[in-house]
Amino acid sequence: MITIVVGTNRKNSVSRKVAEYYSSLLSAKSEESQIVDLVDLPADFTTTALYENNGTNEAFNGLRKKVQAADKLVFIVPEYNGSFPGVLKAFIDGLKYPEGVKDKMAAMVGISSGVQGGVFAMSHLTDIFNYLGMNVLAIKPKLAAIERNFEGGKITNDLYNQLLNGQIDRLIKF
Ligand SMILES: Cc1cc2nc3c(=O)[nH]c(=O)nc-3n(C[C@H](O)[C@H](O)[C@H](O)COP(=O)(O)O)c2cc1C
Repeated sequence: MITIVVGTNRKNSVSRKVAEYYSSLLSAKSEESQIVDLVDLPADFTTTALYENNGTNEAFNGLRKKVQAADKLVFIVPEYNGSFPGVLKAFIDGLKYPEGVKDKMAAMVGISSGVQGGVFAMSHLTDIFNYLGMNVLAIKPKLAAIERNFEGGKITNDLYNQLLNGQIDRLIKF
């Protein structure tokens, strides 16, 4: 079972749609997956699930458990202001420390409206995950100009599809 994390809590996000597409690519390779979408975070989680409240917010814990129980994770990382969304960092700050994501395998897919495809977003996130002891797969597809390359629930760009399938093949063996 591979757990796909939607790295934003924005409603109707493109990241969610890419996560669903990624799940369909996994199914085509007979890999089961589940999606954890940060849109399901409780609205007040920064005041009710962090620091002295760590582990006490049941709604937050539901998402946290799915991430902490996973061996392999895929993060769909939208580029926000040249990095990854702050809500994803706040979610990471609410995981069990230091063992929350230690020794897990992670893959990342960057998406952006502009030309960078989340390259810096994934670089910043890789630093954090490596610090936390997570093994991050080196293949990190950068899906730039996503609006022009995603239609009808599918990535329409052949190169992007090759990169995603190549990543999945490595992730399965990882
Ligand atoms: C707060 C915010 C900041 C953003 N900053 C950037 C950015 O720095 N560069 C860029 O190319 N796109 C930026 N975007 C566009 C997103 O990267 C783009 O919509 C992404 O593909 C999907 O985001 P979504 O999952 O929230 O729909 C930004 C979007 C939001 C909501």
